[in-house]
Amino acid sequence: MFGKGALVAAGLLALAAGAGVWWWNSRTAAPPPAPVTAASLTFGGPFTLVDHTGRNVTDRDYRGSFTLVFFGFTMCPDVCPTTLQNIAMVMQLLGDDGAKIRPLFVTVDPERDTPATLAGYVTIFDPRIVGLTGTPEQIAQIARAYRIHYRKASDSSAGYLMEHTAVMFLMAPDGKHLTHIPPDMPPRRIAETIRQHMTDSRSPSTNSGKSQ
Ligand code: NI
Repeated sequence: MFGKGALVAAGLLALAAGAGVWWWNSRTAAPPPAPVTAASLTFGGPFTLVDHTGRNVTDRDYRGSFTLVFFGFTMCPDVCPTTLQNIAMVMQLLGDDGAKIRPLFVTVDPERDTPATLAGYVTIFDPRIVGLTGTPEQIAQIARAYRIHYRKASDSSAGYLMEHTAVMFLMAPDGKHLTHIPPDMPPRRIAETIRQHMTDSRSPSTNSGKSQ
């Protein structure tokens, strides 16, 4: 517990800090730095990996298609299988539009997820899902590019699990980031979101936000 004196002291400190900030702001002519928002951050970029058929691939191999990029590992007990199931359902819901998008499942566990392991996993859900692996350095590089977090957890004689960010990234055919898709979004809404972006990309003039 904090005594009353500590609370008063904390309050005075906060006041002093506030006054300090005000003093600093009033003395500097420079505008405050632009706030860091999701929109000002970049997601994605060049990568070099190996797909589940053993083929060396780069981001350029998927240009011309929308991509849905997400990260996980084949031994994931819950989140990854659910996500893959949802994506399989999204692909069904998209119907013919499914041909315009490649779901890319990037492993965060390259030690165990070889191309063969990935091939026996992703294709169970939907043959259009691409599994990607690589060297630990290549995986670290793409994880940095997409700003996702992963780390080995609960290492024991029985094996280990990986912690990882479960958000999905919808990327445009030119490789630019369009939007994040939270892992708990229902498949029907994911399909709607993807369709909306496909429609927007067909009519860029109506999507510029400028009225003529
Ligand atoms: Ni997972």
